[in-house]
Amino acid sequence: MSILVTGGAGYIGSHAVVELLQAGHEVVVLDNLSNGSLEALKRVEAITGKVVTFVEGDVRDRAVLDSLFAEQSIEAVIHFAGLKAVGQSVTEPLAYYDNNVGGSLVLCQAMAAAGVFKFVFSSSATVYGPDAPVPYVEDMPRGRTSNPYGTTKAMVEQLLGDLCRADERWSVALLRYFNPIGAHPSGLIGEDPQGIPNNLMPFIAQVAVGRRLELSIFGNDYPTEDGTCIRDYLHVVDLAVGHVQSLSSLATPGVHIYNLGTGQGYSVLEMARPSSARPASRCHIASLLVVMATWPRSGLMPPRRRRNLAGEPDWA
Ligand SMILES: NC(=O)c1ccc[n+]([C@@H]2O[C@H](COP(=O)([O-])OP(=O)(O)OC[C@H]3O[C@@H](n4cnc5c(N)ncnc54)[C@H](O)[C@@H]3O)[C@@H](O)[C@H]2O)c1
Repeated sequence: MSILVTGGAGYIGSHAVVELLQAGHEVVVLDNLSNGSLEALKRVEAITGKVVTFVEGDVRDRAVLDSLFAEQSIEAVIHFAGLKAVGQSVTEPLAYYDNNVGGSLVLCQAMAAAGVFKFVFSSSATVYGPDAPVPYVEDMPRGRTSNPYGTTKAMVEQLLGDLCRADERWSVALLRYFNPIGAHPSGLIGEDPQGIPNNLMPFIAQVAVGRRLELSIFGNDYPTEDGTCIRDYLHVVDLAVGHVQSLSSLATPGVHIYNLGTGQGYSVLEMARPSSARPASRCHIASLLVVMATWPRSGLMPPRRRRNLAGEPDWA
């Protein structure tokens, strides 16, 4: 299949491009490089020995999309492009609604005009909301969201559902991720955020290599064994494989929802343990404020989807 991957120069996108190429698909990447890099795509080519067609541009730019669809024969779109920092979404909601919702809307309009109706969307388990019981299952309704980032994911899911109800040519896979971590086993691509990381693993990695002095853990009174927050972490390669496998669901019109996680939770302290080869003082519990309220478990996924879609995690 010939696939347009928006945001393919970013963390998850670059790993997905590797898996797509290795599965025999042709890939065109559209990325505005606001948080991705051409170097990542060069390394994707080195890993796979295949060529990635790259278009530098923005998903909100209809003219760029129209010429891309006119020049390439695209059969499906995997949409990663977006902003993802929860905290920043609270302080800059306009940027998030513009990029994440506006970008998805323009993309869908351009796809419809070009006669492309297969869409895989990078959603998030955050759409279940903080009040949902665990484990989260795909049949649950979306819950209330607790920040603009989560709301943008819920809004795009709603938009895509409405499209499928209005026009049976659309087939959409909503992939609700838990917490992607890790890097390609080649060591050539991985997560290397610009500025202060938004996620736990880059923090741990930066402490491990000495780029940061210490790891601060926020929250020690969660109702968990060690008191720190539990999350479901999924290796990025398994997540990428899940995207390739989700393409087969697009043969059937309508909305297909898949949780992508492992079903296994780890606490923050357990996650920090691999770096304990470093001096213990490096791993310093600096502040015991509860910043994530009382949401100790991030909806552990039941195993059925793991077996059906993403396979057993090989790299965790
Ligand atoms: N990493 C996570 O923890 C996580 C969890 C759940 C969902 N997601 C979603 O997965 C997707 C990819 O996440 P990631 O971790 O790879 O982020 P990333 O920032 O590494 O990748 C996003 C890519 O999109 C590009 N981009 C952003 N806005 C664009 C625009 N308007 N036009 C074109 N390109 C644009 C960036 O340059 C970047 O290369 C995002 O939609 C994110 O919300 C991520």
